[in-house]
Amino acid sequence: MGIKLAVLGSVFISMAVAASGVAQEAKHYEPTVASLDTHPLPDWYGDAKLGIFIHWGLYSVPGWAPLTHPDHDFASEDYIVYNPYAEWYLNVVRIPGSPTQKYDQEHFGPHHNYYDFKTQFDAETKKWNPDDMAGVFRDAGARYVVLTSKHHEGFTLWPSQVENPNQTGLQAERDIVGELTGAVRKAGLKMGLYYSGGYDWTFNRGPIEKGRDYEMVKPESVAYGRYADAQIEELIAKYKPAVLWNDIDWPRSGDALKVMADYYNSVPDGVIDDRFGVPHSDFTSPEYSKLDQISEKKWEECRGLGRSFGYNRAEGEAETIAPDELIALLVDIVSKNGNLLLDVGPEADGTIPPVQMERLKALGAWLKQNGEAIYGTKPWTRANGSTNQTDAKGKAVDVRFTQKDGKLYATLLGRPAGQAVLLHNVKAAAGTEVALLGAGPVKWTQRAEDLEVQLPASLPGDYAWVVKLTPGK
Ligand code: GLC
Repeated sequence: MGIKLAVLGSVFISMAVAASGVAQEAKHYEPTVASLDTHPLPDWYGDAKLGIFIHWGLYSVPGWAPLTHPDHDFASEDYIVYNPYAEWYLNVVRIPGSPTQKYDQEHFGPHHNYYDFKTQFDAETKKWNPDDMAGVFRDAGARYVVLTSKHHEGFTLWPSQVENPNQTGLQAERDIVGELTGAVRKAGLKMGLYYSGGYDWTFNRGPIEKGRDYEMVKPESVAYGRYADAQIEELIAKYKPAVLWNDIDWPRSGDALKVMADYYNSVPDGVIDDRFGVPHSDFTSPEYSKLDQISEKKWEECRGLGRSFGYNRAEGEAETIAPDELIALLVDIVSKNGNLLLDVGPEADGTIPPVQMERLKALGAWLKQNGEAIYGTKPWTRANGSTNQTDAKGKAVDVRFTQKDGKLYATLLGRPAGQAVLLHNVKAAAGTEVALLGAGPVKWTQRAEDLEVQLPASLPGDYAWVVKLTPGK
């Protein structure tokens, strides 16, 4: 394969040979929105559909938050004092009268310094096995992982060479970022990194108590801009993350556009989220909320398996999304051109809480049977559909559509009480093969606008069944 070079103005285009042996265009990006906007969405990200988010840091040691605000009504007056996000521990513990302050005093005594959790964090993380963790994510059916390299507390999960001018002792003893990156890639998944560019409570300590503080507590000093730029450049150079997931904007004293251009020039098939506070991104990132319609712009919903991103020991069965809801959520998101970035909050030693582990297993089992309707698919002409069926409790069995290589997938989001299922407004031409994933071909009849499929008496698997339509030759 020859090397072709072309120079277009200041844009330098070359043909690079990707690992697959297929020639890929690698171009040079400039730190301008116009240049960054020419970055195509890489196929791997559009096809992946499921990623695992990991929030892991000093907050994983106390691992606690109140079980409040289950609906994540972020704008409500007392949201921060009763913040269900355990990774906000350091912020909330400093709000007088907060449940977190009370919890902290009871468990760690008065005057306990949050950063002293480092000793225990380092001791606990010695037990962690990155290959086991990567294996869990692979078996759950995830195609990529995003790890918090630095959350708002300012503690880094890699041995940064960039000196923090305000505080020492801010680094995990193990290179968690490096070790997990290696293990995740070995397991065949892509590895991405989260970085809290907007908040760093070692530069602007806050605390954030009310909505008005959200802006005021963003550090904007020249020193912080330099620090954040240097740290993220270090992450890019050292770990080449497949996803660059910033949070809470980039400091104005830093250079977000340069970071983005440097990133694409280093990782051409990487993706950038929409939280840098500049008008460029590869995908949008709704949090604990999803879209009602197909969106042309790629999007990624992030949410925890429970109500928190970081480990919250108070969460159990009732606070954790049920397996059938989780699967329906993934199918719904994918039908609308989204990915699900599903968060696990490991305990300090890297253990995934059993209640979360169970969900990951259910998801993995479901994807093993039905992944064909998920991975590599595109939205159909519409996302939502309905049937004539209800489940045993009388709830309507709805449908979500996806398509791939001319095939249509109609996923039933519940267990139909009857076997003759009418898929409303679905037409199959003569010669179409209709099958149920995990079972095989089924009988079908076109009844005016609706397609009737005859399901077997016993359905394969426990949740959400996929009817696949393959047109005849
Ligand atoms: C928010 C929260 C944070 C969490 C993140 C994930 O911005 O502050 O705790 O890491 O969203 O989307």
